[in-house]
Amino acid sequence: ADEKHRLEGEIKAELKARDAVLVAHYYTDPDIQRLAEETGGCVSDSLEMARFGNQHPASTIVVAGVKFMGETAKILNPEKTVLMPTLEATCSLDIGCPPEDFSAFCDQHPDRTVVVYANTSAAVKARADWVVTSSCAQSIVEHLDSRGEKVLWAPDKHLGRYIERTTGADMLLWDGSCIVHEEFKSRGVEDLKALYPDAAILVHPESPESVVEIADVVGSTSQLINAVQTLPNERFIVATDNGIFYKMQQLAPNKTLIEAPTAGNGATCRSCAHCPWMAMNGLENLLHVLRTGDQEVLVDGALREDALRPLRRMLDFTA
Ligand code: 13P
Ligand code: SF4
Repeated sequence: ADEKHRLEGEIKAELKARDAVLVAHYYTDPDIQRLAEETGGCVSDSLEMARFGNQHPASTIVVAGVKFMGETAKILNPEKTVLMPTLEATCSLDIGCPPEDFSAFCDQHPDRTVVVYANTSAAVKARADWVVTSSCAQSIVEHLDSRGEKVLWAPDKHLGRYIERTTGADMLLWDGSCIVHEEFKSRGVEDLKALYPDAAILVHPESPESVVEIADVVGSTSQLINAVQTLPNERFIVATDNGIFYKMQQLAPNKTLIEAPTAGNGATCRSCAHCPWMAMNGLENLLHVLRTGDQEVLVDGALREDALRPLRRMLDFTA
């Protein structure tokens, strides 16, 4: 505890000395989320992380999350230094959508509007007409559908399928998935619901369709946190990365939160529903990059301009 206290004190001092702000995702370690809160940074979903970094006056943005979040910050703020505790923190959706293959896929379907999830590389965003996150995907696709546009969607097939069902839009889906959410099983969630019939089921739409179908609320991380605060239920079964429990419990201390199981037999597995890449963000590597300027996110100039257009469109649409 003393060591942790020392690290936190040093990180706070370095953030000040560097004119840096810490922007963290809800899935990161509670210690990191707390630090972001205590130092005037932000803890939020991927859409609000992008907006916050863009509006904050600090000259350095430290992004605690995964690589696409750091790249998004750099694309939006080329004049600022963007650091991450480690550039190794990636995402299975990003890995599963290589830019060359994606570009070829787009070439085969020139009649479709290209919509990509924020969980992609700068090169994939550069090929897109729109970037979306899970909190605005539905409204943006609805908007496109109302204009008669057909959509090419990448990379998350589960989120894509959910948006296709809720909007009725004509969508062609890339075959990608999140290794964390893909593990939730409807059988396990149903078994829990039988034990706690009063519980509301909250599901992130990166989960398989069978799990989304039995949800009371389907939404982005911020939308699920909001549901815990506003729904009258006292108990919630939560199907998303368990990093979210820190903020949920902080905002709704009297509610009981139950982790959705990742195994079909209903057994909970604390380490399963946690993103291995989000878990790479720690106090030690955070302090190290603040001291050394190591692990700086850089995005090539031409690529940056092409990726900026669809990102700006998303921020303007949701402003
Ligand atoms: P949101 O926070 O935008 O819901 O994204 C979830 C996610 O998987 C980020 O890695
Ligand atoms: Fe990617 Fe899933 Fe990890 Fe989010 S939780 S960063 S979607 S692998």
